[in-house]
Amino acid sequence: MLTIAVYPGSFDPITFGHLDIAERAAKLFDELHILVVHNPAKSPRFSSEERVELVRASLSEVGIESKKITVDTLDSGLLVNYCRMVGATALVKGFRTSVDLDYELPMAQVNRDLADVETCFIPADPIHGHISSTLVKQVADLEGSVQKYVPEVVARALASSSANRKAKG
Ligand code: PNS
Repeated sequence: MLTIAVYPGSFDPITFGHLDIAERAAKLFDELHILVVHNPAKSPRFSSEERVELVRASLSEVGIESKKITVDTLDSGLLVNYCRMVGATALVKGFRTSVDLDYELPMAQVNRDLADVETCFIPADPIHGHISSTLVKQVADLEGSVQKYVPEVVARALASSSANRKAKG
C-alpha cells in the first residue's frame, strides 16, 4: 500500500525551515503533497498561485527534485477532504517549540476525528528554529537581508512586494 501524506500550510512565503521539513517528510512517505492552504485567520502577502510558484521554484533552487513531491492549493473546504481525494492517510506538520504544538494539537485531533487522518509532527532542525514567514516578511519590509532564511527566488519576491507596499504607503 502506498503511504501518501499531505504537508499543509500557508507558506506565505516558504522558508528554509519549511523546505527542511518537506525534504525530511518526503523520505518517510511514498508521496508527499505540499499543500498551500488558504487560512482565513491570516491575510496573505502572496496569492495562492504565487505561493505555489514560490514553493516549486524553491524546491528546484535548493535541489529537492523528488518525484515523490506534488505542490497543490486548497482555497476552500476541509483539509481532510483533500486528503481523501488524493488518498492521503497522514498529515505532516513541523514544529519549532511547544507553542507550535499547542496550536497544532487541537487541529490534529479534529482531523483525526473527522477522517481518521493522523498527524505526524517533525521537529524543526535547531538551525531553523527561529525562522517564521512572519518574521521574514517583517525583516524584508524593513530592508534587512533575508538570504539566510529563504531561497533567492523568495528573497526577490519579498523585495519586490516590500517595495510595492512602500510605494503605496
Ligand atoms: O501555516 P498555517 O497558517 O499555520 O496553516 C494552518 C492550516 C492552513 C494548515 C489550517 O488552517 C488548516 O488546516 N486549514 C484547513 C481548514 C480545515 O480543514 N480546518 C479544520 C481542521 S483544523
